[in-house]
Amino acid sequence: MFAVRGAGAVTRLERDGVRWPLGARTYKSVLLVHIASAGAWLGIDIVMGVLVFTALLTPDDRIKALSFQALELFAPRTLFATGAVCLITGVVLGLGSRYGLVRYWWVAAKLALNVVLTALVPLALSPGVSEAAERARRFVTGAPATLAVGDLIFPPIVSPAALLVAMALAVFKPWGRIPWKRAQPPPTRRPQLDTEGA
Ligand code: HEM
Repeated sequence: MFAVRGAGAVTRLERDGVRWPLGARTYKSVLLVHIASAGAWLGIDIVMGVLVFTALLTPDDRIKALSFQALELFAPRTLFATGAVCLITGVVLGLGSRYGLVRYWWVAAKLALNVVLTALVPLALSPGVSEAAERARRFVTGAPATLAVGDLIFPPIVSPAALLVAMALAVFKPWGRIPWKRAQPPPTRRPQLDTEGA
């Protein structure tokens, strides 16, 4: 459907600048995994929000401690996995279509959001969650421990908001192409015409 067969023939995909031409079925399968991973990522963010806001709002310290421990059990690893799958499949879709990776604003913006959100999991979320879970374990053993939510309030607000923006970018595809300047060919020297005395 996509390829024009024949020796030396330029396929439509090649003409559109597609890096990794994929068959229609393969492209749709990757798109399916991409959409599923984005949906799972948002779902995990929502469960993370339920646990963090429960810890914030409940007056019961045992439930706070339980929320922190549940958060440590499921959130960082699953968030990193869904973020990585979404990123890898997104890159395959970009290179396997005329959208590219930095050819359209909406794809480049999604790429940046995906990289930042996924990197923040091991760099910021995971240490914060481990520290809160450690305080919860101390509380459970009867040792003195505070159960404040602190900065853990931000991930369940920032991450789903950014994912919804990325989803809107995927659906509406706004802003068009990035106007990369093409390399200008060197100016051709015009032959010197000897006009003197003409
Ligand atoms: C931030 C996380 C991301 C989310 C939540 C997300 C979400 C989505 C969704 C929901 C679609 C389906 C849109 C539709 O079929 O109408 C989609 C398609 C797509 N995404 Fe992503 N995406 C993300 C990251 C990326 C990345 C990092 C790239 C590439 C660098 C990418 C490139 C694409 C491309 C090329 C399509 C196919 C569009 C089409 O064929 O119509 N996405 N994305």
